[in-house]
Amino acid sequence: MSADTPVPDSLIVVSNRLPFVLKRNPETGKLERKASAGGLVTAVAPVVVKSKGLWVGWPGHLDDVNEPIPESDPNDKNPTSGLLSEKVVSVYITPKDFDLYYNGCCNATLWPLFHSMPERTLFSGDNWRAYTHANEKFADYTIKALHLAQKDKPANVKPIIWVHDYHLLLASNWIRQAAEDADLKCKLGFFLHIPFPPWDIFRLFPWADEVLQGMMGNDVIGFHIEDYCINFIDCCQRLLRCRVDRKNLLVEHGGRTVRVRALPIGVPYDRFVQLAEAAPKVMFTNQKIVLGVDRLDYTKGLVHRLKAFQRLLVKYPEHKEAVTMLQISVPSRTDVKEYQDLKEEMDQLVGRINGEFTTYNWSPIRYIYGCVSQDELAGFYRDSAVALVTPLRDGMNLVAKEFVACQINKPPGVLVVSPFAGAAETMHEALICNPYEIDEAAEVLHRALTMPEDERTLRMNYLRRREKTNDVNHWMRSFMQAMGSQFEKEEDDEMK
Ligand code: G6P
Repeated sequence: MSADTPVPDSLIVVSNRLPFVLKRNPETGKLERKASAGGLVTAVAPVVVKSKGLWVGWPGHLDDVNEPIPESDPNDKNPTSGLLSEKVVSVYITPKDFDLYYNGCCNATLWPLFHSMPERTLFSGDNWRAYTHANEKFADYTIKALHLAQKDKPANVKPIIWVHDYHLLLASNWIRQAAEDADLKCKLGFFLHIPFPPWDIFRLFPWADEVLQGMMGNDVIGFHIEDYCINFIDCCQRLLRCRVDRKNLLVEHGGRTVRVRALPIGVPYDRFVQLAEAAPKVMFTNQKIVLGVDRLDYTKGLVHRLKAFQRLLVKYPEHKEAVTMLQISVPSRTDVKEYQDLKEEMDQLVGRINGEFTTYNWSPIRYIYGCVSQDELAGFYRDSAVALVTPLRDGMNLVAKEFVACQINKPPGVLVVSPFAGAAETMHEALICNPYEIDEAAEVLHRALTMPEDERTLRMNYLRRREKTNDVNHWMRSFMQAMGSQFEKEEDDEMK
């Protein structure tokens, strides 16, 4: 958290996952926290701690739900270490319900639909019911957190409840109603980390109106880019018949005005620079590296990307034995069939391409299916000639931004971004590549690999400057300002 990040009176974050995972130590048999390294946690957790706030989330499947959440290891210096267990509110959901809610509705329905892939979307009443129950549970636990937050605080304190992502689209409305019934004051904000689809896609969802009504419980709704704001406002107007103000991004509903805002998330820029400075040189190759880093997810365009690389080697054989593609695919949602099928497809395609081109001292693709530490990742980012960030659809894509932060070598590498990632909206100096057009993608990759040094430097300088300014702390600050937090008012008063 930067020194000038506004801290509200009390911030209650509500997200599907807690900001750490719980693992049982096989030797002691005790539960231990393992920190999450994501940028969201890095930026938000310190503000929760500083504001004496709370975090509401799912702790993972536990054998004994009465087992207390452990405190963090006092020697552990991570952003959540200051989050005492009394400030963590665990939402317990039975494994069966969680399966229908998370694997079912969240990841087999909302995820593909919101990424505009209706042909992959599974519509199921059972999953939807589990989703509504899970959201009710999250709302109940959030009300408990609100009681805790208001204990021992002056009556005028208005905690900010910040709900995150597509897992919890319904929760805010219930939180608002229950808080009003209990005469508890709060402000409600929501941030969607994935795209919001156009009206014509969104309306395919049989319970689309209910989703919008759930979201209308918020005072402020944040999306990464303006396109998603407009899509959302469109849906409110056409499906709920709300009065809307497109210029000022406002929606009227139930006598209240909801503010919609484009607030593009950033990365912990300085931390990535430090990691890049510390990482040892990537030694496995003296070739140019073309890097891909993604969760293994069909939205990421991985099959298209491998085919583009294959096409490059056919069209421009001079890259043979001179370029290696390093694709890191992090296992994700492995209980969902679409993800299992993709793994099979990728394994086969990597095998086919390597089979086609491998010589006795070179293989075109190095494929890692597994997790890579951030320290190691920073080295890969720094030492790659090109980063290929070519999703078919992506809310923002933080890999593009992490790569840019780690470009401390002179001359730097080249960023290639899909126009269908939110990141392309602001990263104007990246090369744009439509992943669906395999031939064209191979051309863009060739251009990236042969780009003159001065052009690379110029483009990267602009990209780095922007990401340094608009880092994840800036995003956190912007959201709090949009919520009109108490702290911001104090800051304003001080300025007068
Ligand atoms: C996306 C979502 C996040 C989610 C992450 C990992 O980035 O926006 O909310 O946490 O994917 O997915 P998982 O299903 O493992 O939480």
